[in-house]
Amino acid sequence: MKRILITGALGQIGSELTLKLREIYGRDNVIATDIRQEEETEGPFEILDVSDQFRMYEIAKKFRVDTIIHLAALLSATAETKPIFAWNLNMGGLVNALETARELNCQFFTPSSIGAFGPTTPKDHTPQVTIQRPTTMYGVNKVAGELLCDYYFHKFSVDTRSLRFPGLISYVTPPGGGTTDYAVEIYYEALRKQQYTSYIAKDTYMDMMYMPDALNAIIQLMEADPAQLKHRNAFNVTAMSFDPEEIANEIRNHIPNFELNYQVDPVRQQIAESWPNSIDATAAKEEWGFKATYDLKQMTIDMLEQLRSRL
Ligand code: SER
Repeated sequence: MKRILITGALGQIGSELTLKLREIYGRDNVIATDIRQEEETEGPFEILDVSDQFRMYEIAKKFRVDTIIHLAALLSATAETKPIFAWNLNMGGLVNALETARELNCQFFTPSSIGAFGPTTPKDHTPQVTIQRPTTMYGVNKVAGELLCDYYFHKFSVDTRSLRFPGLISYVTPPGGGTTDYAVEIYYEALRKQQYTSYIAKDTYMDMMYMPDALNAIIQLMEADPAQLKHRNAFNVTAMSFDPEEIANEIRNHIPNFELNYQVDPVRQQIAESWPNSIDATAAKEEWGFKATYDLKQMTIDMLEQLRSRL
């Protein structure tokens, strides 16, 4: 990775990844793009709607990029409310980004998700290679995306790489429209109101990861020796698995009067129940040395400290 084009650069992952990549590869070597420009960014920025393949190609060519990191997509809960729009945006954007990578001979990254699994997938220690029959539009997009990235690798030799991310937790840019978002909101509300009403039910376990580990994982995978990669699209990665009670208990170690209540949202609960409880990241560890550094305890200390100074 030397000159990188990022789509969805103002999103949850993009806003932090752009800064981190600029630190490593140099400000002018990371071209941020998004559908809107909200504020002045330091470094190259272009407005890009990912459904416009011509413009994507033109920007990539103009900046002579050798890497495309395609992040623009709708998350699970939003995709469920607008399934056809999600199909068009998630799949159309992906194929445009892959075509640009093929034409300009770029290395390629796009995230997959625990959403690529479904109710018939083994729930615990979910293996790298297993049943993937998701029942959400987001999941259908993610499985199709994994297959499409494999196709571009085998058919056109595009160096595609991907990670199946769990819920990502960060204090910088809030996520929007995801099922795992409760695990971000809970920290904000714990500090603001000492109370949170969870839309996910007690005893619903999902994998999670703190953003610094997710950013490192992307960079490490993209820098990994291709000869070591057997799976490519996409590696299971995770740092922890918890239910709302466990994260609330951890928060209570810092805010003892924190109260957790429930008002379960049937749509997001159903999505969460169709996903694994905890996935197995052995392939990522063995093939390119994946390692998460934050567990629930360390993440909670850092989240509360960072948010306290921001709120
Ligand atoms: N965090 C995502 C979501 O909840 C999962 O990839 O939609």
